[in-house]
Amino acid sequence: MNDSTMLFEDLVNPEVLTVQPYVPGKPIDELKREMRISYVTKLASNENPLGSSLKISTGLIAMSNEISRYPDGSSFALREKLAQFIQKPMDWVTIGNGSNELLELVARVFAGRGDEIIYSQYGFAVYPISAQVVGATGVEVPAKEFGHDLEAILNAINEKTKLIYLANPNNPTGTYFDKETWEDFISQVPEKVIVVLDEAYFEYAQDLCPPGTYANGLDYVEDYPNLLVSRTFSKVYGLSSLRVGYMVGYPQVLDYINRLKQPFSVNSYAQAAAMISLTDPQFVKKSLLTNSQGMRQITDFLNSKSIDFIPSVANFVTVNLGDKALELNQKLLQEGVIVRPLAGYQMQEYLRVSIGTNVENRHFLGALNKLL
Ligand SMILES: Cc1ncc(COP(=O)(O)O)c(C=O)c1O
Repeated sequence: MNDSTMLFEDLVNPEVLTVQPYVPGKPIDELKREMRISYVTKLASNENPLGSSLKISTGLIAMSNEISRYPDGSSFALREKLAQFIQKPMDWVTIGNGSNELLELVARVFAGRGDEIIYSQYGFAVYPISAQVVGATGVEVPAKEFGHDLEAILNAINEKTKLIYLANPNNPTGTYFDKETWEDFISQVPEKVIVVLDEAYFEYAQDLCPPGTYANGLDYVEDYPNLLVSRTFSKVYGLSSLRVGYMVGYPQVLDYINRLKQPFSVNSYAQAAAMISLTDPQFVKKSLLTNSQGMRQITDFLNSKSIDFIPSVANFVTVNLGDKALELNQKLLQEGVIVRPLAGYQMQEYLRVSIGTNVENRHFLGALNKLL
């Protein structure tokens, strides 16, 4: 066999052949190995630069050794705590192995061949993948100034539409749609079309949007049985590595998702850490302050150099570096800075930069300044 990539091609599900796998940010150790350097700043995966609450490490150490036991598949204690936190009944919440697991499961529950799944141009990469995997047709609606065009999305709905994925704010653009536009949209979506509102960056958006302009998706779940809101512990809570996220919606709808979940998809330590993180609002406050200050630090620099960027209400900013973007990305790597090229989103001229600590931001800005 000459071409190993063709092995068993005729046996593979056609859906799988079409999938373009998700491309993650470059790991720190990989760059250290490649460049033989020891100091690396990673601003590529929208992680929390402060890590996670100190209460978590002490809490997990104090936990009895549960490695040999299967986790609680229903995440009862976490759901109970989270339900109190978001002020919803417990059965309106389901927990996933990252919100990613839940986003994909919704497509498996509601769509298949012949169905359409709508998402925005420049929408989060997991949405087209989720559509491809189930054999549904992904319908990409052109963006408006890099943000979701909710009116155009409404116009794209037809009798084949099963599901709409929206990210508010969106990754990789950091754009958001305001409360009024959202309310207008959701009230017009036919009730047989499921809407997933992905609020992975909810806490940042609440902090950065002008007061009263950002819609909290959880305020709408009771009124719209076709609405599912997802959030994550990966971002402001700093638990990316543990993989824990959640979805809120009508219990009858969540029940379908729960049927498809792997029996023990969220491990005991992830459940415990998520619970502990809800008891440390000070950490969240500090993280949001670090983010807003870092956002200002980076955007002030960009403005001072007349470099164009997409205004963001999340923990990253997407910068227009023109036809030099990919070359600059390579050179930044040589300087020990990992950011995210966006060629996979057809945004070849842009690099997405996560907001880091003051020191990390300075490393990035210093390197960028030198290269420019
Ligand atoms: C918009 C959006 N949704 C969902 C996720 C998935 O997050 P997780 O699976 O870590 O909860 C991400 C991660 O970057 C994201 O940017």
